[in-house]
Amino acid sequence: MGILTDLTRMWLTRSVRPFRFTGEYDQVLPFSDCEGLGLYVHIPFCRSICDFCPYCKVLYSKALCDRYINALIQEIHLVGSQSPNKAQVTSLYIGGGSPALAAERLPEILSAISQHFTVTQGIGIELHPDDVTVSLLRQLRAAGVSKISIGIQSFREKFQSLLGRRPVDAAAMARALAAVPFETVSMDFIFALPGQTLEDLRTDIDAAFSLGANHVAIYPFIDFTFTRSRVPSMAKAEKRRLLDDITRYCQAKGYFRSSIWTFSSREDARYSSMTRDNFLGFGCSATTLLREQFKINTFDLEEYCRRVESGRLPTCLTLRFTLRQRMVYYLFWTAYSTRVDPADFQRFFGRSLKRMYGLELWLARRLGFVTVREGGYEMTLKGAFFYHYYENFYTLAYIDKMWGTLRKEAFPKELIL
Ligand SMILES: C[S@@+](CC[C@H](N)C(=O)[O-])C[C@H]1O[C@@H](n2cnc3c(N)ncnc32)[C@H](O)[C@@H]1O
Ligand code: SF4
Repeated sequence: MGILTDLTRMWLTRSVRPFRFTGEYDQVLPFSDCEGLGLYVHIPFCRSICDFCPYCKVLYSKALCDRYINALIQEIHLVGSQSPNKAQVTSLYIGGGSPALAAERLPEILSAISQHFTVTQGIGIELHPDDVTVSLLRQLRAAGVSKISIGIQSFREKFQSLLGRRPVDAAAMARALAAVPFETVSMDFIFALPGQTLEDLRTDIDAAFSLGANHVAIYPFIDFTFTRSRVPSMAKAEKRRLLDDITRYCQAKGYFRSSIWTFSSREDARYSSMTRDNFLGFGCSATTLLREQFKINTFDLEEYCRRVESGRLPTCLTLRFTLRQRMVYYLFWTAYSTRVDPADFQRFFGRSLKRMYGLELWLARRLGFVTVREGGYEMTLKGAFFYHYYENFYTLAYIDKMWGTLRKEAFPKELIL
């Protein structure tokens, strides 16, 4: 598994140099001239912890949450005040954890953001199904939130109990969603659970759209090595058939595919915090992607608060990209949207995509992974499956290793991937 990702990395970056993250970091971040900048805020509190979940999260306590939000606001000011002017950003996504547990303090967080940034394409927040009540949705709307994403996982009780979660009260959720509308209402599902069939997923997708969603995200189950999950993985052939069948089903229904895993009933209903050219992340475990660097904040809440309280950024690891590494990173996440536009690549890097990766694109066309449409490269069903398959390796080789390390060590000296 490691060999496949290493060889691919060497081939695409034209170098044997690995991704080398170090503890040395910049207190001043060069973001003010970044185009298409997005923002992400991480709020790590949950009412209870799910065994399968790899994210940085802790059990909610009011005292810890208050201290954390104070530090978070301080981090936003530390970074935001580095720009001489208010920076224009595309979107702000608030994830977790279950960020609604800090809903009372949302106006303060958004006020800190608005002192330094102008958000042009809306504010999104992740919700646990238990958060979806009329009063909470009203609170979010009043604070300026325009997109919500609800972690359903499955409407089927047997899969919820496999994942260690309670059944979702679909009727109560539908009533709340009907009373308080949002521009995007997304619902998250997990697929490739043992015994899960196309019928199970079709029922979930139909239920989502009929309960008020206009966007669904169907994530493949990933068995992270450091989680306590005991859910076995589905075999490759079965997973492929399922992914192809769900895609065909959604396409036949006329849903728009906005990324490998997401479908929407309206083309403008979007929910994606990952597919930005550049982004700034605030909070523990949040990542920041700029033109020449990628950095990640410490996962340790205590150390996060301590660093920020002393006026320093809570960065624990930074990767300084070579040009080819940055191109690979760019292409990986752009391909996630199922379309790569050479004009965008040219604008971002000042170099031609064909000159930099002509051979790979030719090969991808020959193998039937992409087709060319309106001057851009579009992923086929086959390409989407192989992207998905490779992403699974990438997640286990890179993200699993990085998150696994950062859960144990607040500020490692170095991490080689
Ligand atoms: C932060 S959680 C969602 C918000 C909320 N905390 C909840 O649980 O409903 C983000 C999403 O990641 C997905 N997810 C979590 N662990 C996963 C795993 N091991 N494999 C695949 N998807 C996962 C789930 O679909 C989940 O809804
Ligand atoms: S899936 Fe959601 S509720 Fe469960 S531990 Fe992860 S963030 Fe918390």
